[in-house]
Amino acid sequence: MTDHNTERTHGAAEPGRIPDSGKGVGLYKSRIIGTGSHLPEKLLTNADLEKMVDTSDAWITERTGIRYRHLAAEGQATSDLAFVAATRALEAAGLEAADLDMILFCTVTPDQPMPSAACMLQKKLGARQVMSFDLSAACSGFVYGLTVANQFIRTGMSKNILVVGAEILHRLVNYKDRETCILFGDGAGAVILSRAEPGQSSGILAEHMFADGNLGDLIMLPAGGSAIPFSQRVLDENLQYVRMKGREIFKNAVRTMVQGCQDAIGTAGLDIGEIDWLIPHQANIRILEAVAKYLGIPNEKVVVNIGDTGNTSAATLPIALDEAVRDGRIRRGQNVLLTAFGAGLTSGSVMLRY
Ligand code: UT7
Repeated sequence: MTDHNTERTHGAAEPGRIPDSGKGVGLYKSRIIGTGSHLPEKLLTNADLEKMVDTSDAWITERTGIRYRHLAAEGQATSDLAFVAATRALEAAGLEAADLDMILFCTVTPDQPMPSAACMLQKKLGARQVMSFDLSAACSGFVYGLTVANQFIRTGMSKNILVVGAEILHRLVNYKDRETCILFGDGAGAVILSRAEPGQSSGILAEHMFADGNLGDLIMLPAGGSAIPFSQRVLDENLQYVRMKGREIFKNAVRTMVQGCQDAIGTAGLDIGEIDWLIPHQANIRILEAVAKYLGIPNEKVVVNIGDTGNTSAATLPIALDEAVRDGRIRRGQNVLLTAFGAGLTSGSVMLRY
């Protein structure tokens, strides 16, 4: 087998081309040793939305593939959902919270601006006082998080890292805006990324991360930060809600994910036919199918759960991964390609051997 840790293949960025992040260098390899997820019980169906905005079940199903989304209960915060997913991932890994040496929480909906959701989760899990922080890359959060965690394992700094993607998006959505309110849901997914033992074939083979701040206005939430702090004006102008240019995002999403995937597959030294599973960010069924089609990956190899979850931002990938691992679709030794895009505009693809 090729040793994927020995050479660096940093591609120089050609004009108009997404730069290649390469395989990186490291002493160790990291592998996922446990997954977990959690979707809150309460459902928001397309029929419910028909009563709230001018839309229809037929339109939503046909244009997005979504049938329902899960909503966190009143009083529940993002770290509460993450706690359940993380506990399940630890259990699957056969580890205790005390075994963790880092907690990386990918989210754009932390419980509050500070302290971080990662610190809230550390407390809830009863973990040791290890480095814990939030990572904000919107829907690309989880692949960004996995990439950051991978570097700490490669260098030998960390051995067992909890990477969580969790969101409560329904509280940031305007239920009078039919373009956004039909899309988003709540949920959490988690993995334990650990140092691989010598000789183990599974691991992260290649990563490709990308961001283009020039496209920041395609999807954004104007208020609540230092630029527009909370005030009566925020409420009067609905600045506390997500705003989106759906069609523009659609085009950019397909483009960046396809390019990112191609680069990650190439860097890993694989052919498209060697990909066992593609797990794309669950944003819209038509986006998922377009990405698979451009890559030449048949739909049977694409993990899709958007119908039952909606878009849960940083949580979609770890939830879909966990479901496919637990129901036996994804097995050890298979090549799994994760890809996402989100506000920023960010995008990221991770090629791993499970
Ligand atoms: O993680 C990143 C988050 N964001 C995304 O992933 C968004 C990506 N974009 C999309 O998923 C799609 O662009 C949407 C689902 C948001 C919209 O679907 P579309 O097929 O791109 O629709 P469109 O914007 O081209 O609009 C077509 C029509 C318009 O009506 P007119 O102008 O043709 O009369 C819209 O007003 O559909 C209308 N429309 C709706 N109709 C019923 C837009 N939203 C709805 C709705 N129900 N919910």
